[in-house]
Amino acid sequence: METRRYLMCRPTHFAVHYAINPWMDPSVPIDVDLAVAQWTALRDIYTGLGHTVDEIEPIPGLPDMVFAANGATVIDGVAYGALFRHPERAPEAPAYLHWLADAGFDTHAAKEVNEGEGDLLVTDRFVLAATGFRTDLAAHAQAQELFGRPVISLRLVDPRYYHLDTALTTLDGVDGHAIAYLPDAFSPSSQRVLAQLFPDAILASAADAAVLGLNAVGDGHHVVLSAQAAGLARQLRERGYLPVPVDLSELLKAGGGAKCCTLELRSA
Ligand code: ARG
Repeated sequence: METRRYLMCRPTHFAVHYAINPWMDPSVPIDVDLAVAQWTALRDIYTGLGHTVDEIEPIPGLPDMVFAANGATVIDGVAYGALFRHPERAPEAPAYLHWLADAGFDTHAAKEVNEGEGDLLVTDRFVLAATGFRTDLAAHAQAQELFGRPVISLRLVDPRYYHLDTALTTLDGVDGHAIAYLPDAFSPSSQRVLAQLFPDAILASAADAAVLGLNAVGDGHHVVLSAQAAGLARQLRERGYLPVPVDLSELLKAGGGAKCCTLELRSA
């Protein structure tokens, strides 16, 4: 296990004022203090595991900015900016890109709609890229040009799993390129692609996916995931990983979990 560097955004201004995915219901009350406490527990888990956490200043009026994974994709010191599908989140993209430029990353603004690591996940061999709800197929090609890594396009078909990181997690560990995913979240052809590339992947149950158990963060040994995803935790343990449970119930009301809150900063 190597130590990781993550970027996070405190949910100071977290709210559910609009609904851009089926998890969001603006009539359900939000406890911002609880959201901050749960988020702080996640941050402390990372630092407790030896990882570095940087924080970007939250901006009033951007309630989803806590979901840092959507802010960009960062590989080999190169940052590919986001370009959000929905206007409500659009101002987050330049905020993240500015932070990354100031931090010394080689930043590239996006010309195609993409929601960062929400839809672009990195394994040691590939970048797995989703389309269907948020990210445009054209962004996959742009990512391949920029990163020089093979990009595998996958199609999401279930609106509850609107981002790739809600349906698939990269474990980055003992199997070298292991992943866990919910097959039903993908088109039949994409399921065949995943089965060919990852024949020994962990297949998650519908129940574990429905608590966003797949919205997990692995460092090669530990996997930080929803405390509610007990079955997935057991499957991970059987493969030699160490599940680290976290409760992010307040953020789940916006359709986000641990991975959504976490942008990995991969240096050159
Ligand atoms: N409310 C946010 C949206 O729908 C949640 C984003 C969750 N982030 C993620 N990486 N899946 O855009």
